[in-house]
Amino acid sequence: MEIIIQSDSKEGDKVAARMIAGLIRRKPDAVLGLATGSTPLGLYRELVRMHREEGLDFSGVTSFNLDEYIGLATDHPQSYHRFMFENLFNHINMATDRIHVPDGMTADVPAFCADYEQSIRAAGGIDLQVLGIGTDGHVGFNEPSSSLASRTRIKTLTQQTLSDNARHFADPSGQPHHVITMGIGTIMESRQVVMLAFGANKADAVARSVEGPVCAMMPASVLQFHPRAHVILDDASAARLSKADYYRWVYDNKPAWQQH
Ligand code: GLP
Repeated sequence: MEIIIQSDSKEGDKVAARMIAGLIRRKPDAVLGLATGSTPLGLYRELVRMHREEGLDFSGVTSFNLDEYIGLATDHPQSYHRFMFENLFNHINMATDRIHVPDGMTADVPAFCADYEQSIRAAGGIDLQVLGIGTDGHVGFNEPSSSLASRTRIKTLTQQTLSDNARHFADPSGQPHHVITMGIGTIMESRQVVMLAFGANKADAVARSVEGPVCAMMPASVLQFHPRAHVILDDASAARLSKADYYRWVYDNKPAWQQH
């Protein structure tokens, strides 16, 4: 794992955006795995800025989103579909038919999930997967106890995740308990993973994922097995890492040929 600790989330967003922009410039038909939540908002703003000011071209890019709430239509204010269009897709030049977000209204969840996996394979697999992390260590919506080999499927949210995300729902009774999420096995097949975590409320999950044992009760810890996982943190989310000074030194002294 590469642990990248920046002074604040803005600097972290820039590091992540540079990695994605570098990939798209090297491989214009790159396949991105994308995440929602408040964490990647700054990254998406930076990518939009790069598109507008630096001509970063998304026309050949394909994307697959991690997850979606079951029962929310694409235009529901809290659907991840709408989130992605409002915060990224409406502001860059991605072709609509290359954008994939799980369908929360599907009548046949297992069939939809199998198709989603097949579409990822047909696109050549995910080159770079963006991840946030839940306070309980979930990635996508793979809650604690998720199989570390799981594929895209239905999951039930924990009380902790429901509480964390309740702030987004004006009427809590309308907050779905069920979701479709890429599995941990699906995420682990992406060629590169960039996990972002900012703020003190993520410090515990980050420390347990990066320095604790690999365990289904802390799903993000599985990234320790990924050959190319980058974890981008700010000082607050890195506060409980025992080797933070070492990670800082390593990053600050990377050989030029190894720079992103
Ligand atoms: C949500 C999403 C995750 C996200 C996480 C953290 O429930 N399904 O993909 O990483 O929770 O959210 P936030 O970034 O708002 O802290």
